[in-house]
Amino acid sequence: PEMGRAFAYVILGGGVAAGYAALEFVRLRSDAAAGELCIISDEEVAPYERPALSKGYLLPEGGARLPGFHTCVGANDQLLTADWYREHGIELILGTKVITADVRRKTLLTSSGETISYKTLIVATGARALKLEDIGGSGSDAENVCYLRNIKDADKLVNVMRSCPGGDAVVIGGGYIGMECAAALVANKIKVTIVFPGKHCMERLFTPKIAEFYEKYYASKGVTFIRGTVVSSLEISSGKVTTAILRDGRRLPADMVVVGIGARANTALFEGQLAMEKGGIKVNGQMRTSDASVYAVGDVAAFPVKLAGGDVRRLEHVDCARRTARHAVAAALDASGGVGDIDYLPFFYSRVFALSWQFYGDNAGEAVHFGDPDLAASPAPKFGAFWVSAGRVAGAFLEGGTPEEYAAIANAVRRGAAVKDVAELALQGLAFVARE
Ligand code: FDA
Repeated sequence: PEMGRAFAYVILGGGVAAGYAALEFVRLRSDAAAGELCIISDEEVAPYERPALSKGYLLPEGGARLPGFHTCVGANDQLLTADWYREHGIELILGTKVITADVRRKTLLTSSGETISYKTLIVATGARALKLEDIGGSGSDAENVCYLRNIKDADKLVNVMRSCPGGDAVVIGGGYIGMECAAALVANKIKVTIVFPGKHCMERLFTPKIAEFYEKYYASKGVTFIRGTVVSSLEISSGKVTTAILRDGRRLPADMVVVGIGARANTALFEGQLAMEKGGIKVNGQMRTSDASVYAVGDVAAFPVKLAGGDVRRLEHVDCARRTARHAVAAALDASGGVGDIDYLPFFYSRVFALSWQFYGDNAGEAVHFGDPDLAASPAPKFGAFWVSAGRVAGAFLEGGTPEEYAAIANAVRRGAAVKDVAELALQGLAFVARE
């Protein structure tokens, strides 16, 4: 006989969005019956704040460890341990992968052979790290090649790092993961070379001028940048990479390799069943997919961003996962249809070394820089940029701001503050938003 259980609400995936969705569910539905909500995750632990993996988790000593960073501590909210889910009658099915989904029948089949049926499904499957093999390379199986998406990856990275003190690391990729891991490796006294094909780091967000500051800062910590080329192969001996070979033939000695070449949304279960866009599952302003019983949130969801004129975006950032998750739960629980469309202000941040930046909105239009990103003038410079589009502030980036200053740039973007003269804006810098 086929095993099976039925739930009114099922959250598929147990990452950031799942944790925030669960808390919102409990808050909005204090009368929920035990066993109404179930979360299915292929990870072995309750939802946690994934950004910690490239920051606190990699510290050489006193690093962040579970249960310390389960959701929702990243938003200064309750810490939800496995006990919390139990106490609230939420079924947390861990270490279990969903292998097929049938949207018409409203069922999920798990790796343990169980069929789980739902009335309402929230898809929160997130994204996965792209592998070298996905871009025509090889070597992912080597003992000292690391990725970073989940706790297992982070544990491997920590172990490999500790196995080669003072050694050489080659970091492949100059995006978020590459840059944050490089900083962590330096803190662990590993010598780092970062290789990426672009002209500068964080190419999708940073302007050349912003990137120059961070690259100089990293260089002052001993990091070497190799731009405009790629690692074409890895030389492996007894299961370990020894050398990374660049397209131009250069050979980099490597005691370890960290790969951060991007992510892909986990949509496969729903291909051909739900409408897709921007590499994710397409949803409306209520986070509802093309099937009325299915919502999608977090990294896997492509949703209309009002501030960008309703343009459909897929944002792989933690704040987006938290807010879209809460919005979907509010919409799913709302029988009266009173929950409006999400009005999301895109927000990303990063923290490396003693630095920290925030970005709001859209990096569209003309970039207008302000402040002095000169390390010689100040060890903790404050600088940034506004992106001006059609005479309004569309996006804003700030390094080294105070909470008030970050709130002020966020507010300027949200309101679309009018800019009469970009030269004047460059001179005023933060005074422009403080004045508004
Ligand atoms: P998330 O990936 O968190 O969760 C998806 C869950 O679904 C996982 O538990 C996965 O195992 C599970 N799953 C998938 N398919 C399944 C299946 N078929 N069956 C069962 N379970 C399944 N953002 C930011 O703004 N600032 C930052 O500093 C950082 N830093 C950062 C560092 C690192 C190392 C990473 C990997 C990511 C970040 N991010 C970030 C991005 C942020 O963490 C990300 O946007 C959120 O985790 C997205 O939350 P989701 O819940 O959508 O996916």
